[in-house]
Amino acid sequence: MSTTWDPAAYLAFDDHRARPFHDLVARVTAVAPRRVVDLGCGPGNLTALLAARWHGAVVEAIDSSAEMVDAARARGIDARRSDVVDWTPAPDTDVVVTNAVLQWVPQHRELLPRWLAALPRGAELAMQVPGNFGAPSHTLVRDLAAESGLVLRGEGSVAEPAEYAELLAATGAAVDVWEITYLHPLTGPDPVLEWIGSTALRPVRDALDDEAYASFRAELAPRLRMAYPARPDGTTWFPFRRIFAVARVR
Ligand SMILES: C[S@@+](CC[C@H](N)C(=O)[O-])C[C@H]1O[C@@H](n2cnc3c(N)ncnc32)[C@H](O)[C@@H]1O
Repeated sequence: MSTTWDPAAYLAFDDHRARPFHDLVARVTAVAPRRVVDLGCGPGNLTALLAARWHGAVVEAIDSSAEMVDAARARGIDARRSDVVDWTPAPDTDVVVTNAVLQWVPQHRELLPRWLAALPRGAELAMQVPGNFGAPSHTLVRDLAAESGLVLRGEGSVAEPAEYAELLAATGAAVDVWEITYLHPLTGPDPVLEWIGSTALRPVRDALDDEAYASFRAELAPRLRMAYPARPDGTTWFPFRRIFAVARVR
C-alpha cells in the first residue's frame, strides 16, 4: 500500500540516517558498474552519493512516493515513481542498493531471490533494513494503538540476519550479512517521537485525522520519554539496530 512520506521530516535526521547507508555501500566492491539502481531512493540525497562514486554508470532510481520522487528530481536525480514489487533488473544492472526500504515491502523475501536470478554474474545487491521492531520505539506505538482500538496497516516486517543469509545463499550468491546497533545521540525535546514521526508513526498518521493524531502523539510522548530518558546535558541515547546484507551473483 502507498502511504504519505514527508521528505523534509525524513531529512531532519539525515546525518544519523546516512550512516548505515555508508556502512552498507562500503562493502560493495564494484569499480566501474554499468548500471546502478537505488530501489526506494527517498529524497535522493543518498542516490547522489552513488552517482558520485560511480560517475560512469547509468543511475536508476525508483520510489513509490510521489513526494519523494519530486524531492529526488529537485536534486537532479532522474527518479521515477514505481513500486519495487514491479521492478525487474535491466540486463546491464551491476549494482542494486536498497537502503531502509524493504521493511515496508512484505513480499521482499520472494523478491530478493527473483532479483538475484535476473542479475548478471558479478552483480552486487546491497540491502539494509531496521531490526528494531521489538524496541520500545515500536512496541509503545503498537501498545497505544491497541489501547485506542486502532488497526494499523503497513507496519514494517523484517527477517533476522541468519534468515537473510540463508535466503540469499540459497540462490548460489556469495553472501555477507551483519548487524549493527547504532547509539544515536539525539537532542531537543521528544527527539525519539520526532524521529519516528517520519517512519514508524506513518501507519498511525494514515489511520487518524489531524486532531486524533495530535492526541495520539501527546499520549505517546511521555511513554517514549520514560523509555528513552534525556540525560542532564540534554542528550537522549537512541539505540537503533540495523541488519545488512550484500549478495554477489556467482
Ligand atoms: C526510510 S525511506 C529510505 C529512503 C532512502 N533509501 C534512504 O536511505 O534515505 C523509505 C523509502 O522507501 C520508499 N518505499 C516504501 N515502499 C516502497 C515500495 N514498495 N516501492 C518503492 N519504494 C518504496 C518510501 O517511499 C521511502 O522513500
